[in-house]
Amino acid sequence: MKPFKNRNIISIKDFTKEEIMHILNTAKKFKIKVNPILLKHKILASLFFEPSTRTRFSFESAMERLGGSIISLAEAKSSSASKGESVSDSIKIVDKYCDVIAMRHSLEGSARLASEVSNNPILNGGDGANQHPTQTFLDLFSILETQKKLKGLNVALVGDLKYGRTTHSLAYALGMFGARLFFIAPPSLQMPSYVTHDLKKLKAKYSTHTEPERIMPKLDIFYATRIQKERFGDPMEYEKVKDAYIITNKLLTKVKKNFKILHPLPRVNEINYEVDNTPYAYYFEQANNGLFVREALLALVLGKV
Ligand code: CP
Repeated sequence: MKPFKNRNIISIKDFTKEEIMHILNTAKKFKIKVNPILLKHKILASLFFEPSTRTRFSFESAMERLGGSIISLAEAKSSSASKGESVSDSIKIVDKYCDVIAMRHSLEGSARLASEVSNNPILNGGDGANQHPTQTFLDLFSILETQKKLKGLNVALVGDLKYGRTTHSLAYALGMFGARLFFIAPPSLQMPSYVTHDLKKLKAKYSTHTEPERIMPKLDIFYATRIQKERFGDPMEYEKVKDAYIITNKLLTKVKKNFKILHPLPRVNEINYEVDNTPYAYYFEQANNGLFVREALLALVLGKV
């Protein structure tokens, strides 16, 4: 296992199964007990050029709960990016003001680019439609917490698989751990070939579907995602697919006892509010787990655990 100190968290593909398990086990310890002075005198720069609630606030809360402090950018327009400053120039400067950087940017590859010019570790909070590795760690943490294993699980990834960076990262990780994947999406939003190409290399089992009904009784995890309006070039294309999948209690009548619904959130219409009161809803606890996973990642890359 490579040391975690000063390591960048850019893509799930940069991690072995053993390293992923180390992150999840560290997060589990933080969920049980947090050390409020572990990151004292350390500064997190939280640079969100794209909107976020969970990723930004959980990174910032994680840093504060471990005794560190934050400098924060919540939108591109309040930084010099609005005057045309490049990502690499912005990172070179902010790098001097902090010890670790969490960032989100609409440009695919922006986190990798940032890691090439930064002396401090970069934590990718989402780069365009590419990767969202810290989300994947918390997704895996939540799957493990509810199912006690990853290998052999039947997992459906549902909704916007074309632009959904959370599903790209998660499909790869679950493929590594030997889960069976069901990709449920309208044909225009199916999983991109660069993701399925990687899955073939991993010898991962997957199949593509347009409807969930017949698969529901087999599933352990239903991972719903939002159809992302902001990623569509043509608004008419969005209108055609925006309500493709809406989970209601009716869809849940034949599911397994251990079945859980996850969602990276925010939701729009994908999960009816009535589902929140069923034992299958796990998406709010999943978002809560983001805190412990990000505490673990900050402590690991800063060399404190
Ligand atoms: N899951 C996720 O990335 O949520 P935010 O966009 O609110 O950060």
